[in-house]
Amino acid sequence: MKLPKAESYKIKMVEPIRQSTREERELWIKDANYNLFNLRSSQVFVDLLTDSGTGAMSDRQWSEMMLGDESYAGASSYYKVKNAIKDITGFEYFLPTHQGRAAENVLFSALIKEGNLVPGNSHFDTTKAHIEFRKSQAIDCTIDEAFDTELDHPFKGNIDLTKLEKVLSENPKENIPLIIVTITCNSSGGQPVSMQNMREVSEMAKKYDIPVYYDSARFAENAYFIKIREEGYSQKTIREIVKEMFSYADGMTMSSKKDAIVNMGGFIGMRHKEVFDQASVFNILFEGFNTYGGMSGRDMNALAQGLYDGTEFDYLETRIGQVAYLGQMLKDYGVPVQYPFGGHAIFVDAKRFLPNIPKEEYIAQTLAVELYIEGGVRGVEIGSIMADRDPETGENRYPDLELMRLAIPRRTYTNDHMKYVAAAIINVYDRRNEITKGLRIVTEAPILRHFTVELEKL
Ligand code: F0G
Repeated sequence: MKLPKAESYKIKMVEPIRQSTREERELWIKDANYNLFNLRSSQVFVDLLTDSGTGAMSDRQWSEMMLGDESYAGASSYYKVKNAIKDITGFEYFLPTHQGRAAENVLFSALIKEGNLVPGNSHFDTTKAHIEFRKSQAIDCTIDEAFDTELDHPFKGNIDLTKLEKVLSENPKENIPLIIVTITCNSSGGQPVSMQNMREVSEMAKKYDIPVYYDSARFAENAYFIKIREEGYSQKTIREIVKEMFSYADGMTMSSKKDAIVNMGGFIGMRHKEVFDQASVFNILFEGFNTYGGMSGRDMNALAQGLYDGTEFDYLETRIGQVAYLGQMLKDYGVPVQYPFGGHAIFVDAKRFLPNIPKEEYIAQTLAVELYIEGGVRGVEIGSIMADRDPETGENRYPDLELMRLAIPRRTYTNDHMKYVAAAIINVYDRRNEITKGLRIVTEAPILRHFTVELEKL
């Protein structure tokens, strides 16, 4: 018999979780104003809200925590991360920040001015919010194939070079401070960007003299997909692929809470000293002195080790295999999901799942609430609530895709949990025709409203 694949780690510490009753959940979600961010974690059985900061650290990371150097300036922990970043990404300069959006805040404070355009592939919500907060515009240049959830395409995160060239050629260079390539592209379904696309974006950017930065939260997962799917990379190691990927960029922002498998942390990696000098002013202002920038020494140590853990092939194979395991169970049953499966999450196509709900009633949010009531599984809406209102017109923005994301924390749940999640979704799918009413917004914030929005059932 051919031996099956199995997890590339075993479990040393466990955390109890509890199942609840449907009656309890109906009450709790009503009290939470139908916003899953308002639930207590104790009210959730399998928490797939996010894969951000929710992973399990390795024994090597925990042992590194004990060696943390908490010196205000020049801590050995700072140099440990600096060396790991140089080793893995090739970037010479680095600034620590407390998480990914802080890296965006610091870098954009240095680079983006009012009225600028920032082209990219479906910018993540905090990235877009940081651009719009500076009265600038994020221009989505993702390939059209990304918006067809049924279409099989190996690199749905790719930038459409024609769309990009249109932005670059029709606007003065001074108005385009940078291009942002998100690897993997979270908003389009955790979809990877190919090495060829990165190379071509870099060539085009050079032609127009515009720097390229990668939003790199899931760069290792992106590298795994390149190894598995792109011609010429099957024999390369993940770290060789990662090095080549970053060789096409001028810098990166990182949410270390994803592929560096820590509970908190972020950083900016840079190739140019001028950018480092400009950004470090804002880092000291917003985050902290340049050798800690919002992180404690022990957390920097865990991060340095996490960068190595997260770029091991066996780990990535287990991780992405688990996401696909859940995806395949759903696909086999006919549940509409973004295909191919993403690296960190399964994205359920809510428009096709609940065709009876009009977009004005927040389709993906309605589905996420139903799934919670069904099984205590917490997913998240990636749809029109998250898309916020148009800052100019104040109208709701309805993105092409209404998705419910089920993000899988790293090294945290077993495949039996995935079976449980699949069963809960399938139960909702079986009764989808009875779900005919969605939700209405009662109160909302002007920006990033999904975190605090209050809704009621129609
Ligand atoms: N960029 C991407 C692609 C992200 O997915 C995230 C966070 C950030 C930047 C911001 O990083 O949270 O450390 O400030 N994504 C989380 C998620 C929140 O659930 O997908 P952060």
